[in-house]
Order: sequence, then structure tokens, then C-alpha cells
Amino acid sequence: MTNFSIKYDEKKISLAKEDLKSEVNSFKDLKTSLFNEKNRPASFKLHLEDITFDATRHQISSGALNSAKNLAFLLGVNEWVNAVYKGKIANKTEGRPALHSVLRLSKLDPLSDQITKEVKEQRNRLLSVTNNIRSGELRATNGKPYSTILAIGIGGSDLGPKMAVKALSHFHSGPKIKFASNVDPSNFIEASKDLNPSSTLLVVSSKTFTTTETITNANLAFNWMSKALGENAAKKQRLAITSSLENALAFGFAEDQILLFSSWVGGRTSIWSSVGLPIAIAIGSENFKSFLSGGELVDNHVLSDISNSIPFLMAILGFIQRTFMKSTSQAIIPYSYNLRLLPNYLQQLEMESNGKSVTNEGIYLNDPCVPVIWGASGTDAQHSFFQMLHQGVEKIPTDILLARSPSYNTNNPDIIESHKILAANALAQCEALSKGKVSRLPHKNFPGGRSVSLLTFNQISPRTLGAIIALYEYKVSIQAAMWRINPYDQFGVELGKELAEVLISGNEKEAGMEIGSLEKLLKIMPEK
Ligand code: F6P
Repeated sequence: MTNFSIKYDEKKISLAKEDLKSEVNSFKDLKTSLFNEKNRPASFKLHLEDITFDATRHQISSGALNSAKNLAFLLGVNEWVNAVYKGKIANKTEGRPALHSVLRLSKLDPLSDQITKEVKEQRNRLLSVTNNIRSGELRATNGKPYSTILAIGIGGSDLGPKMAVKALSHFHSGPKIKFASNVDPSNFIEASKDLNPSSTLLVVSSKTFTTTETITNANLAFNWMSKALGENAAKKQRLAITSSLENALAFGFAEDQILLFSSWVGGRTSIWSSVGLPIAIAIGSENFKSFLSGGELVDNHVLSDISNSIPFLMAILGFIQRTFMKSTSQAIIPYSYNLRLLPNYLQQLEMESNGKSVTNEGIYLNDPCVPVIWGASGTDAQHSFFQMLHQGVEKIPTDILLARSPSYNTNNPDIIESHKILAANALAQCEALSKGKVSRLPHKNFPGGRSVSLLTFNQISPRTLGAIIALYEYKVSIQAAMWRINPYDQFGVELGKELAEVLISGNEKEAGMEIGSLEKLLKIMPEK
């Protein structure tokens, strides 16, 4: 694995930035743009199989789009994406590549022998454990098949499986899956409250196997199970998913209970690895492979022609909005109950990756990178925060996602009718946000002028879900190249973790904190 660096032509880059700035500032309004730009749909609307990314409602001209494309190439996005894909050391601060795309390759031949071997072994293990659990070959100690999986993990070791299991509920054919991530004991108590320990399998996922929340919840779960079944039986009803064989063994897992994934898989892109086990158990091996194929579809789409790819368009639009139009946030609104956790998943993917203030060369940035990523599913969101999207002073760019047909009972006319109402709302919001409606009464005026992307696809399927995730992964990676930052480390999460450890171990003095501050905080106040 080799290092690489991009040679920047600073003079050309700064000219391209000036050019982009003047294009952005000269934008009048969407109506004029639509009138002047006959070819707008060709550059603002892209397709990939049944997926359409329609950005025609962006408050950005074709001229600005072209300038941003030019800037992106000067910033080396093409070299960057290829280098990341080929396993060059993209994550310089941690000295490793970010090879998650390899995990979804259907043919593993082009990789180094070692990587091919690792990925093959890990994927085969994931699929065979899945098949054994679903077929009942791998059973609880009472001889019965597992009825429930209690999945414990946090961050990248939880958000992906939790989001995908919910998103693919209509494909769910395996045991029930429950999740516990938060160290607040209420999470574990609620997740386990209706479970029968004798038919539950604990699956503990942690890349490092040192994360406090996960270790605490794993102990809680193990004690809960031991109390019901005895320690020996509880020891048999658990699996670990990790990059650290050593730490999982030290925790007490037997080697044959451990599913590995490689250290070059980042937590927030680990959904494609053994971390995806709960998804595979829920939907089955074939569907899981189809999920991987959706990711691979996007790899091929981007690598074959980056400049006409959906993620490139997503990335440059977001870059213009953040860096030149100073948008502080980006809303993600899936018009889908099943995709309701997608905004949370993308929040980690985007904000943990690009929430940085220092370049790859160690230089502090003046301008912020990723905006705040937030959202919730429509139509619920329309009745909570959409007021602000329509009439707030700040124009917040919004991604709206919609399946063309419902997830369940596609032949039932009542269900089709409900889905039609859902779709009408999604489209209505796109129009209202971008066009607005003039009123003489200021409080009834809808200024419009909000940038909206509409991402549509036939139905939420494993392949589509895989593709959607990979589209956003590439968006994040391309934007990182444009901001010249490393999207693959996350040192910003360390200080809070360290200070929590200090408080738990009672070493406040060392860290310059008031001695006994935790006790003081937790002291029950007398009732007045
Ligand atoms: O909080 C940061 C983080 O390291 C995430 O990047 C990661 O997904 C999460 O914690 C969980 O880490 P682990 O999988 O090692 O338990």
C-alpha cells in the first residue's frame, strides 16, 4: 500500500474559485435560469438504473455548475477517488487506506492477494453464519432455533445495521432483531424487555472492542442472560464482530465466535463488512449480496465516468452551497417511513467524515466544511420543522427521497392510494420550496428559492438501498477532496471520551477538573 499526494496548481485553483464565485453571484433566479438554459435537465438530472437524481430545482446556474466542475478537477477529485479505490493510503493521519468499496466487489481478483484472501474469508464467514442462524443449524443451548438477535454496538457499528434492518423491513424473513447502543441503561432495558434470553443470540459489534458504551452494554446483556440461563450457556449464545481479535478474545469470546473485519474498514463505512451481519440475518444471504451489488453499481458508475456521475453532482452542489452560498445545514427528508433512520445514518457519514478544520497538509481552514446534516421522514417532518424550511430567513438545501411504488402490498388499491398521497406530498414540497408563492401579506408570503434535490427510485430494495448509501459515500469523499481534508479519521471524538474516563476513574485533578464534580452533578437534591 502506497502513499500518494495530489499536486495542486494553486494559481489555477484560485482563478477557478474566483470564476465560480462570480458565476454564483450572478445567478438571478430559477425562472431566468430555466429560460436561459435549454439544456438544464441534461446536466442537472442524472440516472443510474431506476435511480434518478433530479437537481433541476437548485438555485444554481449551469455556468456555476461548470465552473465548480472545473475547480473540482483542479482539486484532484479524479485522482483522489481512484487512489482511494485502489487502496492508496488516503487516511494519512492513521496511515491506512479506506477500502470499503472492496467489500462489495463481486469479483475479488484485481486486489492484492492478502486483501482478496481477507475479504473472501470474512464474507464467506458472514454468509455462512447467516445461513446457519436462519436455517436453525446454529441453535440456542436449549436446542431451539434463535428467535431474536440482540445487536449491541454504537456509531458505525450500530447505525448502519439499525437503519438498514428498518429500511428493509418488508424483506425481513429471519429472527427478530433488537438494537442497544446508548449507554443509558434504558436502551438495553427497553430492547431486552420482551425477549426470552433462552432463544436470544447476543451480537456485539465493535471495531476496536474498547468502546465504553458497547462494552458496558455487552456486560449488561451477558449478565441478563447468565442470570436466566447460567454463565456457561450465556457464554455460548454470543458472537463478536470486530477488527481486534485480541480484544474480543480478552473480553471472553471464543475464537470461533468472532467474525473479523479488516482495520482498513472505517466504522462509518463498515455496513458492507461483517458489521452487516444483523442485516444479513434479517433479509437472508442472497438479499444481502444484492445490497452489496447496489454499492458496487455505484463504484462502477463513479469510476467509469466521474464527471457525469450522480455523486459528483451531489458533491459539487453541496460544495457550492456550503462554501459559496454559506448554507449552514442540509436537510435529508426520505418520504418513506422505512427510511426514517437514513438521516441519522447520513449524519454520521457526512459529519464525522467532513467535520474537520485542518487540511491534509496540516493547514487550518478559514471556511467551514460539512454543514449540519439533519432530517426526518416525510410526511411527519412537514408537520414539525417544514415551516422553517419554507419561511425561515436561511435557505436550507433539502434532499427529498421517494420510492415510486410502496414497500408493501403493491397490488392493494388502498395502499396504492396512500402511496400516491405520499408521493404527491413529496413533489408538492419540491415545488413549494423552490417556487414559493407570492402574497401581499408578508406572513403569507412564500419566498421560494430553496434548492431541492429529488432522488427517486422504483422501490426500496436491498440493491437500491446499497446504491443510495454508496452515492452518499462518494459525495462525502469527493467533497473531502474539494476541501482538501481527510474524511477517514475522527480524532474530534477522543477528548470527550478521555474526560469521561477521567470522571469515571475519579482522576479529575489530573485533567484540571473540580474534584468530585461527577458526584456533585448526580447528588439528588432535596425536594422543596
Ligand atoms: O465515536 C467515534 C467512533 O470511533 C465511530 O467512528 C465508530 O463508528 C464508533 O465510535 C464505534 O467504534 P467501535 O466500532 O470501535 O466500537
